[in-house]
Amino acid sequence: MVQILVDNNIIEAENGANLLQTCLENGIYIPNLCYLNDSQEPFAACRLCFVEIDGHPVAACTQKVSEGLQVQTDTSAVRSLQKTAFRLLLSVHEIKCKECSANKRCDLQRIAKFLKVGLKPKGLEIRLKDPGLDSGHPYLIVDQNRCVLCGKCVQVCLQKHGHSYLTFAKRGFDTVISGYIEPDDIPLTFSGCTLCIDICPVMAISLKEGIKS
Ligand code: FES
Repeated sequence: MVQILVDNNIIEAENGANLLQTCLENGIYIPNLCYLNDSQEPFAACRLCFVEIDGHPVAACTQKVSEGLQVQTDTSAVRSLQKTAFRLLLSVHEIKCKECSANKRCDLQRIAKFLKVGLKPKGLEIRLKDPGLDSGHPYLIVDQNRCVLCGKCVQVCLQKHGHSYLTFAKRGFDTVISGYIEPDDIPLTFSGCTLCIDICPVMAISLKEGIKS
């Protein structure tokens, strides 16, 4: 075990443990969307989990714990980076909380509250994808304007099945989680696995009508 200092709190952790996970397990919340517990290779896509180490911004999910590490999670520079990353996410997200199945269970709502950022920040130009719904997968529908591209669905599917039935497609603003898979790869019957649906922090994935979990 080693000792680290996070915002003046001494924390004990395994040498080499993931910093983000260590902080969360010790009651220090750092906004995050894309980190999966015990991930060997963190995806680090959302850029929300910035902390400050030696005066430099570091994505906490990519940092390993080591003896004497000193971390600050609440400096003005950290909050500014987190708010900027969060606003970028919101600029491509359809905000219709009252009609959304994730309402009150949505990680975006939690992070907005934590960072004290409105879900509809002033002066933010919203760009949505058209079409918003992708029904290319045989069993799933992906709402592209709800999806935050955290990639958790791809990661859990890969971990569970050794092959992901969802993938990233296209580039830049057009990047989407695609349900398209090669016809030969389509399982003939739905396996009942809903890990991708369960892990989604904004409930952007759902089963097609008539498919029972
Ligand atoms: S949780 Fe670290 S970049 Fe997303």
